[in-house]
Amino acid sequence: MTEPNQLPVWRVLARQADYYGSEFDLRTAFSDQPQRFGQLSLRAPFVFADLSKQLWDVSVLAGLLELARTSGLSERQKALLTGQIVNDTERRPAQHVQLRRAVVCAPQSCEPLCRGVNHMLQQAEQIRRDSNIHDIVHIGIGGSGLGPELAVQALQPFKTSTQRLHFVSNLDGQELHEVLQHVRPAHTLFVVASKSWSTAETLCNARSALQWFQQQGGADIGQHFLAITARAERAHAMGFAQVLDLPEGVGGRFSLWSAIGLPIAVALGEEGFRQMLQGAVAMDRHFECEPLSGNLPVWLGLLDVWNSTFLHMASRCVVPYHHGLRRLPAYLQQLEMESNGKRVHRDGSPVNYSTSASVWGEPGTNGQHAFFQWLHQGTGRVPVEFIAVKRPAHSLTEHQVPLLTNAFAQAQALMQGATAVEGQIPGHQDFPGNRPSSFLLLNDLSSASFGALLALQEHRAFVAGTVWGVNSFDQWGVELGKTLAKDLQQCLVSGKTDGLDASTAGLLALLRAA
Ligand code: F6P
Repeated sequence: MTEPNQLPVWRVLARQADYYGSEFDLRTAFSDQPQRFGQLSLRAPFVFADLSKQLWDVSVLAGLLELARTSGLSERQKALLTGQIVNDTERRPAQHVQLRRAVVCAPQSCEPLCRGVNHMLQQAEQIRRDSNIHDIVHIGIGGSGLGPELAVQALQPFKTSTQRLHFVSNLDGQELHEVLQHVRPAHTLFVVASKSWSTAETLCNARSALQWFQQQGGADIGQHFLAITARAERAHAMGFAQVLDLPEGVGGRFSLWSAIGLPIAVALGEEGFRQMLQGAVAMDRHFECEPLSGNLPVWLGLLDVWNSTFLHMASRCVVPYHHGLRRLPAYLQQLEMESNGKRVHRDGSPVNYSTSASVWGEPGTNGQHAFFQWLHQGTGRVPVEFIAVKRPAHSLTEHQVPLLTNAFAQAQALMQGATAVEGQIPGHQDFPGNRPSSFLLLNDLSSASFGALLALQEHRAFVAGTVWGVNSFDQWGVELGKTLAKDLQQCLVSGKTDGLDASTAGLLALLRAA
């Protein structure tokens, strides 16, 4: 493969970055370019994106689009959408887009890819009708937990089931312990979600749940425990009678569209679940059919490349101004950082430019009373992504104008800055401004618009990963720590610390002493 930094347009962009990263001033740009807002904002299904407050303009965008073209984005996109192998190290396709398309466009389809979802939707309806089940405890981590938890929170106003949904992911027993305080075995369904059925956290929580169930006199494990996995044989071996199938080709962080979405289908019903996929499919079509110059996931992915690689901004702050989206930063952290936190190209050769920024954030307005001080007056510059929803689904509508104007004002303040006036304290009450942000605005947060928002984020990560030339679908970086944790458990039992570094050995000794 041609490394992207060998492409002629890379050098052009690097030269432009010298200017946009230092002298370029957003305030001047807005006064000099009356068309700026119109030129640098874009509409896609369910989402309006204002990207005019970023440190770029149409000439940079043109260069980035050229970079996308010459780094083979269209070919990779075609490979993704037609189910070719795009995850080179694991020799797999990434089939999340095909999966939701098949579920939406061919609901009666019997193709193996959809089997698990169709089965899951039937199962979800049965669970919803089961008046004996009052609580559902979903056990799963990373992609097997974050998506369902986020979706159930985000779409809470549309929840039509009376059953309570709990989510447990952490190896720290406190999380499961707290949930178990509030449920009774006879009225609880445990859903254990793990594509690999080898994830230490999930298996440990599943074992503890099984043990608790039996100790509490629970009868019929087969009825009260359900597995969602691509490794049915492993779940059966652990005593699970009910197993929903996950396709190998759907990666963990892209799996809420699959049977992993069971809690979503229980909460919303089949129709609500399908609407979420329909929204995602609308965004998929936009991504597939719009020319690069009018393609929102392409713009956002390229902007991520621009900010991280060319302007050297190593993090991106995500601030959803919607309580239902409070887990969105965590969800995007996995989506972006597990996909593109890579330091080698797809062929294994090292990259010598920055790839993914770190992603972090909290909902607004809470964040305004915590880290916004740092965003406005800290020494670094971090692009902020505001995500807001015009119409609330709750009845306290008088909160909405203050909420949205706060979001707009923060973006404005980051850009405009301010100089201390008479009576104020110079320096302390100066705001440098010229700090970049994006604004994503949804009309409402429905199942469909939520689905579109997530698909947008998935495609954007794919675009950036493609331009960087990395494999966005594997995650080898999580493996070493898992292996070492197992080794350390052995060391703890045996007391043998030979060969360990002094720090790790010292910490283990403290644990043994306790
Ligand atoms: O450790 C990383 C990871 O493999 C993620 O990619 C995945 O979403 C998560 O763990 C859970 O994996 P599983 O569904 O196999 O338990």
